[in-house]
Amino acid sequence: VALPTDRPVVLVNYKVYAEATGARAVALTQALEKAAAGGERATLAVAAQATDIQRVASATRVPVFAQHVDALSPGAGTGATLAEAVKEAGASGSLLNHAERRLQLADIAASSARLHKLGLARVICSDTVATTRAAAALHPEFVAIEPPELIGGDVSVTSADPAIVRDAVAAAKGVAPRVRVLCGAGVKTGADLKAALALGAEGVLLASGIVKAKDPAAALRGLLSGL
Ligand code: G3P
Repeated sequence: VALPTDRPVVLVNYKVYAEATGARAVALTQALEKAAAGGERATLAVAAQATDIQRVASATRVPVFAQHVDALSPGAGTGATLAEAVKEAGASGSLLNHAERRLQLADIAASSARLHKLGLARVICSDTVATTRAAAALHPEFVAIEPPELIGGDVSVTSADPAIVRDAVAAAKGVAPRVRVLCGAGVKTGADLKAALALGAEGVLLASGIVKAKDPAAALRGLLSGL
């Protein structure tokens, strides 16, 4: 499933939060899908644990991303997550190189190529302007700049370090004009989303602001009110 390119993306990373694991991943996605309904001005997507991709993808119409795939081809590789397997489970794409699942450059390139061959979208995460430029050089559909020290915190990257978002957009577009840049870390409110778009990002990657909210549907509605 290709994500529409004419509207911002709100990608909610479920990480391994208990609130977004197993049956709760399905219930959460259904609640978010309902909260976003009628809001065609943004595309909602979620990044679920590998074990939850199939159940979330079959219970909702929300595009589901894997949080990671390995660079391996099918064969001997105990414990690995195959791009083929997440595709068959119903994934639309995968995150790669998240701050909590860092990879070496050669592995990012190999996984990215495997995902592309299978028609799956790639969101390559990065932590600095330079690594965003390097990620963009692999020509993924998305890169996502997230300063690690702001992840899980209360201050949005768009307020704490707006320059890194602006500079990451310029760096990424400089090497790959069609890559779409997301930003994340601390993003929670409509104002944060609005600021991200004003800085040149084409969406946000967020987790705790939705997953840990008392009312995740209300948190998503608040976020989307920034459009
Ligand atoms: O992948 C998104 C993430 O790392 C940002 O987390 O909790 O700051 O929205 P959070």
